[in-house]
Amino acid sequence: MTTICLLPGDGIGTEVISAATEILDLLNLGITTETHMAGWGCFQETGSALPKSTLTAIKRCTVTLFGATSSPSGGEPGYRSPILDLRQELNLYANLRPAYSLPVRASRANIDILIVRENTEGLYIRRERWQDADTAIAERSISRIACERIARVAAEHALKRRGMLTIAHKANVLTVSDNLFRKVVRETAEDHAPSVQIEERLVDTLAHDLVRMPERFDVIVAPNLYGDVLSDLASALVGGMGVAPSANIGENHSVYEPVHGSAPDIAGKGIANPIAALLSLGMALSDLGHSVATEQLHKALTDTLESGICTPDLGGTATTDDVLTALKERLS
Ligand code: NAI
Ligand code: MG
Repeated sequence: MTTICLLPGDGIGTEVISAATEILDLLNLGITTETHMAGWGCFQETGSALPKSTLTAIKRCTVTLFGATSSPSGGEPGYRSPILDLRQELNLYANLRPAYSLPVRASRANIDILIVRENTEGLYIRRERWQDADTAIAERSISRIACERIARVAAEHALKRRGMLTIAHKANVLTVSDNLFRKVVRETAEDHAPSVQIEERLVDTLAHDLVRMPERFDVIVAPNLYGDVLSDLASALVGGMGVAPSANIGENHSVYEPVHGSAPDIAGKGIANPIAALLSLGMALSDLGHSVATEQLHKALTDTLESGICTPDLGGTATTDDVLTALKERLS
């Protein structure tokens, strides 16, 4: 039997995970859930943002649905964002962030992009230090092995999709680290040529082209920071953070999560868009082999949006509960 570990976290994380749980129950797939603490509230209560008991449960369940957690800007001694720790602790090396058109005015048409972000290194190794009182240094790590494995994931997805792979880099400036990324990703992905067509873009040009002609892109593979930034950009093209799902995939574990944060500006108001969390649940269900249920969920979401039921971030007036009610009607 499959058990999904739920980590609601902080702010709207708790609201959207509660919505996802209701839908999962309704789908009646024989999947059980267990809920555990993580995040800022948990840190204040227990002194740890990711308690040992939570980590043990995540490892046992192997599939986790994460809401969002708050991180104080500028940091707090002893506090580390649990999602960043999880990505490293569980070696969740591939971060899949799809962005596709939805039937709402806030979404541009004909977009179907998958951003495959390297999730374990780059600048996110967080090796920062003071060189002197006024100069801060951050190290960035790019390794051949991480480039190879992210390239394989990206190329395999491209093969199942439209067969186009764009490598994002800035090798004209970072001639050592990004050049390694560029070269190794290309060499590895070439195993799937000519079924997969490979192209390269400097990341700044790519940001420009993504805004100008997003419909031409299929799979984009990028080092950690570029992938983080480009995926937020891509989500803005199709409706914003409220509809952006993601998966963090490793060898033995996977953590699915909406891309958005805890949204303190709307937390507690009952207007959080649950779609990003529901699409993340859909990614989990699809990977668990429940493709029919995933289809049903997508169809119910599309129908709901087509009938004009959506939260304020998408230009509507519906609450989180209104969206849930509409979905339940369509699913039952
Ligand atoms: P955010 O994603 O929480 O919010 C950005 C904007 O998008 C806000 O105006 C918010 O209201 C809106 N928004 C986000 N999700 C929405 C949804 N589902 N429905 C409707 N509107 C939505 O990012 P922000 O404001 O930069 O960060 C807030 C907190 O979240 C910070 O403490 C940050 O560290 C944390 N954060 C956590 C993440 C995670 O746990 N994976 C990711 C990003 C931020
Ligand atoms: Mg981000």
